[in-house]
Amino acid sequence: MDHFRLLVRSGKELGAYQKKEIKELCRLAFKEEEGGYPDPSLSDGIHFVGKRGLGLLISHCMVVDRSFSIGGKGSFTMACPTALATHPDYRGRGYGRMTVMEVCRYYEGAGYDLIMMTTEETRWFESLGWIRWKGPLALDEPRSGLSPFSRPVPMIYRLSKTPPISLRDDLTVVCKGGVAV
Ligand SMILES: CC(C)(COP(=O)(O)OP(=O)(O)OC[C@H]1O[C@@H](n2cnc3c(N)ncnc32)[C@H](O)[C@@H]1OP(=O)(O)O)[C@@H](O)C(=O)NCCC(=O)NCCS
Repeated sequence: MDHFRLLVRSGKELGAYQKKEIKELCRLAFKEEEGGYPDPSLSDGIHFVGKRGLGLLISHCMVVDRSFSIGGKGSFTMACPTALATHPDYRGRGYGRMTVMEVCRYYEGAGYDLIMMTTEETRWFESLGWIRWKGPLALDEPRSGLSPFSRPVPMIYRLSKTPPISLRDDLTVVCKGGVAV
């Protein structure tokens, strides 16, 4: 735990070896679930890379930029974490929690309006202050247009700039390119 450090890198800064390492970690963590997570080696996004000791990769999270509107109104900034993974040999030691908390701290500091992700690990995220989204959600993508989404389970993390939204509001996530939430 003492030698754990989290590096923050844009996808464009990652070299081919680092991308391969991240992909392998996600393959192990998600048990090769096809389509269970977006390709973490894509250039889109900011990568939180957790290293231990001399540089062993043990945790990762990729965060992509989105915007959202409430009831069709406004345009607010949103950070969407995805491909969150701790190496199976290092689970339950707080590395995943430290990685997610760093993501939240980073986007609070960057002045974002909200963090949202979809996950099966609802209890784990609830223990870190995340809340299940209960209202209608739509994804607005350039190719497919507007489509509803609700799976696995959408969860939000409020930041100090989060506008006054209720958990049952009608929220549209706008995806300009790259991977969906
Ligand atoms: C979810 C995941 C990232 C958690 O990583 P981790 O490093 O094991 O988590 P932590 O050790 O930081 O967990 C902190 C606490 O949650 C508990 N915990 C760990 N996994 C849990 C789970 N699946 N459900 C509930 N609690 C869990 C730990 O025991 C620990 O509790 P404690 O503080 O009381 O001891 C990891 O299990 C993983 O990689 N899963 C596969 C990929 C995945 O599903 N990612 C999330 C969606 S993108």
